Amino acid sequence: MAQSLLQSSTATLMARATATETGYSTAQLPPKTRNSRVLILGGSGRVGGSTAIALSNLSPQLQIVVGCRNREKGAAMVDKLGKNSEIAQVNIDNMDSLETALRDVDLVVHAAGPFQQAEKCTVLEAAIETKTAYVDVCDDTSYAFRAKSLNNRAKAANVPAITTSGICPGVSNVMAAELVRAARSESKGEPKRLRFSYYTAGTGGTGPTVLATSFLLLGEEVVAYNKGEKIKLKPYSGMLSVDFGKGIKTKDVFLLNLPEVRSTHEVLGVPTVSARFGSAPFFWNWGMAAMTKLLPAEYLRDRSKVQELVKWFYPVVRAVDGIAGERFSMRVDLECSDGRNTVGVFSHKKLSVSVGTATAAFALAVLEGSTQPGVWFPEEPEGIAIEARELLLERAAQGTTNFVMNKAPWMVETGDEPKRGWIRNIRLNVQKRKRN
Ligand SMILES: NC(=O)c1ccc[n+]([C@@H]2O[C@H](COP(=O)([O-])OP(=O)(O)OC[C@H]3O[C@@H](n4cnc5c(N)ncnc54)[C@H](OP(=O)(O)O)[C@@H]3O)[C@@H](O)[C@H]2O)c1
Repeated sequence: MAQSLLQSSTATLMARATATETGYSTAQLPPKTRNSRVLILGGSGRVGGSTAIALSNLSPQLQIVVGCRNREKGAAMVDKLGKNSEIAQVNIDNMDSLETALRDVDLVVHAAGPFQQAEKCTVLEAAIETKTAYVDVCDDTSYAFRAKSLNNRAKAANVPAITTSGICPGVSNVMAAELVRAARSESKGEPKRLRFSYYTAGTGGTGPTVLATSFLLLGEEVVAYNKGEKIKLKPYSGMLSVDFGKGIKTKDVFLLNLPEVRSTHEVLGVPTVSARFGSAPFFWNWGMAAMTKLLPAEYLRDRSKVQELVKWFYPVVRAVDGIAGERFSMRVDLECSDGRNTVGVFSHKKLSVSVGTATAAFALAVLEGSTQPGVWFPEEPEGIAIEARELLLERAAQGTTNFVMNKAPWMVETGDEPKRGWIRNIRLNVQKRKRN
């Protein structure tokens, strides 16, 4: 199956977009992969479901298989997708169930998180075993590098695989790769510092697993790079106020341990890299910072304890989402040795929709033959070929409220002062007075 994907490597250049009544521009897949069967694990969840919808809109001839444990939830998704879709009951913790489900599909999209503290890359192993192309939306460093360690096995099996696709990581890695490429080709000096900043109102409309992911990440020390040195920092520390441009303006963001920091440091060779995340309303940031202080790290790294915590928190968080909205923005900053800075900004009204469109864009790139056999990060040219990046970004950016690349910061910034809430402003004023 994977072989047929590879034979169509020129297809990316041939891909032409046609606007449809769904608002998506449909992709012209090569004849060999046009009717491919794509299994979406976690297809009944928010990210997987949104990916299924985006894929069937972008390429209506694909056969979408919704992989889930809970049949009812899977059936509801199949009803939404209509013809060309079906359910497969799969438990990713059971290798037999996985291999059976993968046996007759061409591509598997793994969105059945959480990826944090998982012991094995079962889905990727089954994909290699059954020679099925693979894409995941992993947002965990250990998991992503364990997946990467299967590179030679995937190469030997002729299986193309991308780990850490999605929006952030995923599209953010490709944005970083393009900023670095542009800087080097325009002789702006050597790329010196790369900074990823992400903002989501509430959960961005994603599912309970994303909340579990956030809590599990609070239990991990943050790995960042400073002038080539690996450094370890406290989670949800190192606040920065970042201007995300029109529609979002300035928001506070905090350090988190995310895989794109290590992968872009290693792949793109940028010596200083960090990633930060912030939420709204502002008290979610306080809550996250308080959790890292009040709960022991071992507690926050325990998947079953965190799942229990999520049962309590999720209804409250979803209720606040109703007021806060689901907006999402990311900004990637590149600083070069000649002092010139360039940025990329990507904003959308709904994270849950945007992550599906982005993941679908990666799946289409694999079906178009842009990915070599092996396991790749999105910024590696063997993962998304350099000439396929523009199309990937164009597809992923459908529905965005703001998408700019390779601009000077002043061209995207609003100059807005962060709104932090009156209690925080009083605290900051007291701190300022004490310092003076
Ligand atoms: N890279 C990115 O840009 C990005 C962005 C956002 C989120 N994410 C990641 O996306 C993942 C999913 O988030 P979400 O909001 O979609 O969560 P969600 O709505 O809670 O959905 C999780 C899905 O995973 C399935 N699942 C869980 N355990 C499974 C197992 N053992 N076997 C089979 N299926 C299983 C669930 O199916 P059942 O209900 O049938 O059990 C459900 O469909 C998270 O891990 C998150 O970190 C990545």
